[in-house]
Amino acid sequence: MLKQERFLDCYVETKFHVPVMPQEVVKYLEPAPGKIIVDATTGTGGHSEIIAGRIYPGGRLICIDRDEASLAIAKSRLSAYRDSVAFVHSNFIDIDSALSGLGVDKIDAIVFDLGMSTFQLDDSSRGLSFQKEGPLDMRFDKSAYISAYDLVNNLNEDELSQVLWTFGQERWHNRIAHLVVESRHQQPITTTRQLRDIVVRAIPARFRHFRIHPATRTFQAIRIAVNRELEAVEAGLNKTVGLLKEGGRICVISFHSLEDRIVKFRFKEFAQQNKIRIITPKPLVPSQEEIRANPASRSAKLRVAQRI
Ligand SMILES: C[S@@+](CC[C@H](N)C(=O)[O-])C[C@H]1O[C@@H](n2cnc3c(N)ncnc32)[C@H](O)[C@@H]1O
Repeated sequence: MLKQERFLDCYVETKFHVPVMPQEVVKYLEPAPGKIIVDATTGTGGHSEIIAGRIYPGGRLICIDRDEASLAIAKSRLSAYRDSVAFVHSNFIDIDSALSGLGVDKIDAIVFDLGMSTFQLDDSSRGLSFQKEGPLDMRFDKSAYISAYDLVNNLNEDELSQVLWTFGQERWHNRIAHLVVESRHQQPITTTRQLRDIVVRAIPARFRHFRIHPATRTFQAIRIAVNRELEAVEAGLNKTVGLLKEGGRICVISFHSLEDRIVKFRFKEFAQQNKIRIITPKPLVPSQEEIRANPASRSAKLRVAQRI
């Protein structure tokens, strides 16, 4: 039986990132002794910790993340479970090689909790937040070749505009792209503050004071482009379906409509091919109680499917 307090405790105790929809993840992932489970986006280990405590004895948890710093924290957080947990610094696009490297052929369940963690957002040196001064970086994986600096300073105006529209659905994409290109003729755009100020100047004054900060969509779009996040979701899901045992579960938590749409359509297609049964025809969302305790969960959507 799951206890609400158990999870609410973990909201209070977690230092780095509060795991989203923990009760639902446990309910649908069905972690149990002996099972092999993958956390494809381990971050600082919030969901992993909850899962690790439920697969002992005999189970195996494989923790994947692109971000080495997050993974190091997860590793120390899960040290009590070290015999049953493996950590892999990798993009989940490469889940097949990650598993074969560990001698794992098929898995019982997998969770994807997409996007970035508050641990990453709060670290100003990563340049993910327009509220903190930092270098224009935004890479989840520090060994990746392209950073936000490269895109912002090298894409031409049309390409930049396209990125802002496609990945941020930014209404003022043309104006922002134009001002970015004009500004970088004077000096390269190297910091989050420079970019934020350019975006604010590009948006007409009467449209700057809506519910979200005017730079929100631009930062989201550039982050998604830098990390090629949507391609990763599509490719990661495609590979994962073939790795699940019969009856195995896949849970995907997404935070914006672009990701959710990919998950929804991939699931639909897999269902038509008789590969999976969709368990959540409509995505599940966090309870009011969870949103109150963890406002960052408010836009989460969880979709679940089961391998046939
Ligand atoms: C929302 S956080 C996960 C938080 C975690 N579930 C928890 O409860 O602490 C998302 C994580 O996914 C990682 N990530 C994003 N895209 C990835 C990819 N393609 N492959 C592997 N990890 C990825 C990010 O580096 C980040 O640490």
